Amino acid sequence: MVHTLETAGDEPLHVVILAAGKGTRMRSARPKVLHEIGGKPMLARVLETAAALRPQAVHVVIGHEAQQVREAFADAPVQWVEQAEQRGTGHALQMVLPDLPQTGKTLVLYGDVPLIDAESLAALLAAARGEALGVLTDVLDNPFGDGRIVRDANGGVAAIVEEKDADDAQRRLREINTGILALPNARLAPWLQALRPANAQGELYLTDLIAMAAGEGVPVRPVQVAAHHLAAGVNDRAQLAALERAFQHGEAQRLMREGVTLRDPARFDLRGALRCGQDVVIDVNVLIEGECVLGDGVRVGANCVLKNVVLGAGTVIAPFSHLEACTVGTNVRIGPYARLRPGATLADEVHVGNFVEIKKSTLARGAKVNHLTYVGDADIGEKTNVGAGTVTCNYDGVNKFRTEIGANCFIGSGALLVAPVRVQDGATVGAGSVIVRDCPPDSLNIARGRQVSIADWQRPHPKDKQ
Ligand code: UD1
Ligand code: CA
Repeated sequence: MVHTLETAGDEPLHVVILAAGKGTRMRSARPKVLHEIGGKPMLARVLETAAALRPQAVHVVIGHEAQQVREAFADAPVQWVEQAEQRGTGHALQMVLPDLPQTGKTLVLYGDVPLIDAESLAALLAAARGEALGVLTDVLDNPFGDGRIVRDANGGVAAIVEEKDADDAQRRLREINTGILALPNARLAPWLQALRPANAQGELYLTDLIAMAAGEGVPVRPVQVAAHHLAAGVNDRAQLAALERAFQHGEAQRLMREGVTLRDPARFDLRGALRCGQDVVIDVNVLIEGECVLGDGVRVGANCVLKNVVLGAGTVIAPFSHLEACTVGTNVRIGPYARLRPGATLADEVHVGNFVEIKKSTLARGAKVNHLTYVGDADIGEKTNVGAGTVTCNYDGVNKFRTEIGANCFIGSGALLVAPVRVQDGATVGAGSVIVRDCPPDSLNIARGRQVSIADWQRPHPKDKQ
């Protein structure tokens, strides 16, 4: 959940998100910033966090696969800026310079640093209030690859030196630049124009602005990020997986604080939004996607997948069940091994057992479908019992038809209900029947071959084989 925060003072704020890099180490056809954390593209997370700061504008610098990135965010309120050639982070910001005002602050974020939070950014902007420059820093045991924060004799930040340009002493520094900067717009034009690619990588380094600021007496304010994962970037799939775990850990901790029991927070995944009532219990290896709402006392068994579902209070989902886009009442029992597909609507106290598939159907209060059954495009009345192996034959290869079953019906095992067909209140269907015509109220309906019994039947004997 991203909260809206007051930005530092009244300074107008522009956000620039750098996302033009190639992402070579992902080895992917998909642009890096479209890879997902918690089921959402990394860039979407950064955009949400940026929006929480209420900036005047958000500019996104794109280059590699620019078209794909743009299309993924076609409706987003952002200014797209193309950087045709990636000549460094300083060059990227040069592309945006014409669109920036001459007052206020520019906050630089990375599209591949997905877990940055609004609180860290608000702290950085507060520290950089006025004409100061803010640098979000971290202190790492293994700072390899990152720009190092070089301090002067008084402990002030003097410069950022990139790994490839650093001397041995600088390489030993563990304080690093996360890349996230708050820059005073008034100084940006002269600083960016002064950048030169005189470094090991032949790039225009945005980080050279720090030495320029320090040289001109502009205060440089370092702010250390509260936790490593907040400012960690994704360059490869291992780092993507590591941040996914950090994100999931945070979601699990939050849910437990809100009163949800997670049998093992390390074996729980939320790729969306989950709202829970009191005393919800979620067993191991459960995946929640989309938007889900679980009422008071709901229990979700091990290895279940829930996507866009609403479950009423007291409902129990037994292990290995898969539920998508369905609405379930109170005190319902589902599974184990049940599949509820989109449009399944179950009223209170319904029972759906193992190897039952339900699609686009309503089950009224107290209906039971307990074993090995397919219910598609059907309405089942109150307290009706559907026996094992029943199939609603809803499809003729072209069209779908509905099956209507009234209240207090009893459908015998192995029945085939060939839709469109209606079984009226109180009707009974004999086991193994193929029902093609409506069944009147309170009737018994049997539609199967009569049994033939042949007396003294000799089964073939093994010696007859040869
Ligand atoms: C950069 C910082 C380094 C910091 C590190 C943190 C510079 C010179 N160095 O180094 O101090 O410790 O990030 O991860 O800024 N990008 C563009 N256009 C470009 C180049 C980069 O949009 O021309 C984007 C990339 O897509 C990426 C971000 O800028 O999102 C950082 O680029 P990257 O090449 O990863 O910079 P680093 O060398 O890691
Ligand atoms: Ca990087």
